[in-house]
Order: sequence, then structure tokens, then C-alpha cells
Amino acid sequence: MAIKVVLVAGARPNFMKIAPIMAAMAGDARLSPYLVHTGQHYDQRMSKLFFEELEIPKPDIDLGVGSGSHAQQTAETIKRFEPVCLAQRPAWVVVVGDVNSTIACALVATKLGIRVAHVEAGLRSFDRTMPEEINRVLTDRISDLLFTTEPSANTNLAAEGVDPARIRFVGNVMIDTLLAHRQRAASSTLLDRLALASSAGTRPYGVVTLHRPANVDTEPCLGGILAVLAELAESLPLIFPVHPRTAKQIDRFGLRRLFAADGVAPGAAGRGLFAIEPQGYLDFLHLMANSRLVLTDSGGLQEETTVLGVACVTLRDNTERPVTCTQGTNVLATTDPVRILAAARAALADPPTGRTPELWDGHAAERIVAALATA
Ligand code: UD1
Repeated sequence: MAIKVVLVAGARPNFMKIAPIMAAMAGDARLSPYLVHTGQHYDQRMSKLFFEELEIPKPDIDLGVGSGSHAQQTAETIKRFEPVCLAQRPAWVVVVGDVNSTIACALVATKLGIRVAHVEAGLRSFDRTMPEEINRVLTDRISDLLFTTEPSANTNLAAEGVDPARIRFVGNVMIDTLLAHRQRAASSTLLDRLALASSAGTRPYGVVTLHRPANVDTEPCLGGILAVLAELAESLPLIFPVHPRTAKQIDRFGLRRLFAADGVAPGAAGRGLFAIEPQGYLDFLHLMANSRLVLTDSGGLQEETTVLGVACVTLRDNTERPVTCTQGTNVLATTDPVRILAAARAALADPPTGRTPELWDGHAAERIVAALATA
């Protein structure tokens, strides 16, 4: 009989990690997957679009948890996931990443005596003010099998006294998805729609994403970052797909004035900071791959730019993905406007050349599935 595996996806950055694992499981008769969407993210643009584009099977169940405080969201996920585990009685629960759905479902499973596998284990920012850091530390502590993406993760887990037998260095499932979809993404029409591409070629531009509470939830911090981005955008148009959380805060703090007028595409001569809706995977990958520079506080983008060879300026004080700095194209600029501008100008003047980290080769999910089938 096939081994029943419950896989959990909750928020946007989970979907590109679950996609290749689901695909690898579909080709392996030893395993029988059951996909749970917790509903932590629920908008068409934050969720459904990714399932369609990445051809992830429709979830077997959507728990409809939605937004709320950390306690509410985590508690609601715990309450709604337990009956699923009791009904399915899987051999494994697989959780990915570091969002609230990750720790909530890991906790439920482990208390029911169901083995937990954590994909993207061992990453540490050593910054306990980040909700994701708490989720990472706790999920790793209670998981039975820890799949790691980079050497620092193995070092961190060893330093925490984790038995090496629980750790498997398998590479990066997010990069599996990038490599699998890069070709398809090249036919995106987003650059035409933004009037960045023409018969004369593609106009240089940068890409911005921001969503971390520490960066967007206070007026001085968000205002300072957006002001320096607007300054940089006078010489390099910046395209900014705005996360719903950030959009709310921009409105709340009255910061729309720092953006180019609504609905104006950068065009051949345009300058400025251009807000657009959150994009789907393929359009965003195409946007990023053709840019001169990405400015972000995302974890995943630090990894994706490393593989794409695009300069990345990270608007944070730390990173849980140090390989993107030591081997890739990433620099940590903090959120100090002076340092952001200096890092961006340095990256544009002398673009970094990185190399692809070990095992970021498009086959991480196959290694995970093989390990689950035999562990
Ligand atoms: C969550 C994750 C974070 C991840 C990020 C990616 C945690 C602790 N945080 O943060 O690690 O990097 O997702 O996006 O799990 N909202 C919508 N539509 C949605 C989802 C959210 O409008 O589909 C709004 C909510 O109303 C809320 C805000 O966005 O105001 C924040 O959403 P939330 O799920 O709390 O956290 P994220 O900031 O998305």
C-alpha cells in the first residue's frame, strides 16, 4: 500500500516549494499525497494564480483560515488541521518554509504521533523579532526529518545539537520551480504591458518588493525606504508589485505621493517608482530575470536572484540565507536609506557575479520524495 503523505501549503512563498514536491510524488507510486491548503493566503493574486500557473493539483481540502493576529491565525490552523490528520492518518506530514501554517501543522502532527518532515530546515537569521525565525526554530525542533538547502543550515542544526541522522542536504525546491518554469516565463507579456520592452530592446529597470512587518508597519521606516527608492527611481525606473499588507500601510501613512501617478507605465522615457498589483509566478519571474537590480526584504527573492545572476540588495539587517551573499549576488543593505542608495548604486556600477550554490540543480524535490519513500 502506498505511503500516505499530507502536504501543507498556506502562504504565497509555500506554493512554489510545494509544486515540485507534488510533481515528484505524482510520478512515484510508493507515495500517496493529500494536499492541504490552510487558507493563510486566499486572494486570487496571492494564492489561486500560483496553483494554476505552477500546475499544482487542486488542494484536497482548504481550511479557510485567512488573516488575523499571529495567535489567531496559528490557533485557527491548529484547530482546523487536527481533524484532517485524524481522518487521514498519514505516515508523514510535510511542511515547507517558515510561515505560521508551517509551525501550526507541524505541532498538530507531532502531537498525534505522525512523523513530520520540514523542507527548508535549519535556516536561521538569529533575529527572534522575526515571526518566521520563531517558526523555523520550533518547527525544526519537533520535526523528524529535516531537509536543508544550504551548508549554513546544516551547521546551524548541528550547533543546536540535532542528530545528523535527521538531516538531509537535498538542495532547494524553490529553485526546482524556477528552473522548471524559466522557459515558460520568457513568453510573459508583462514587460510589453509596462512599456519596458520595445523593438529597440528592453529598457533598464529595477524591481522592488517589501512586506516584512518590521519594514512596512511603521511610518518612519516605510517612509524612509520609499523616499530613497523614489530617489533611485529618478535614474532607474523601479517596478514595485505591492503586497496587500504593504498597500494598506502605504495608504494608512499617506505615502502614495512617492509613487508615479496611478496607471502610468514607465514607458520609454518614464522615471519613478511604479506600483503594480502582486504578480503571478511567471510574470514576476520574467520581470525579475530581465531587471538590472532587485531591492527586497523577501527571503525567496534572495535565492532566486542568485540563480538568475541578477543583483539583489536586501533591505534587512540579516539573512537566514547567507549562501546568497557568500556565493550569490546578494548584499545586505539594512533599511538605512544612505546604505540602500550606496548598495544599489554599487550594484549597478559593478554588477555582482555569483555562482549557483551546490544542489540548486532542479532536482531537490526528487531527493525529498526518495527520502520520504524509504525513511
Ligand atoms: C506571510 C508570512 C511571511 C511570508 C509572507 C509572504 C507568516 C508569519 N508570515 O506574511 O513569512 O514571507 O506571508 O507573503 O506566516 N492579505 C490579503 N490577501 C491575502 C493574504 C493576506 O489581503 O491573500 C493581507 C491581510 O489582510 C493582512 C496582510 O495581507 O493584512 C498580511 O497577511 P499575513 O498572512 O498576516 O502575513 P504576510 O505579511 O502575508
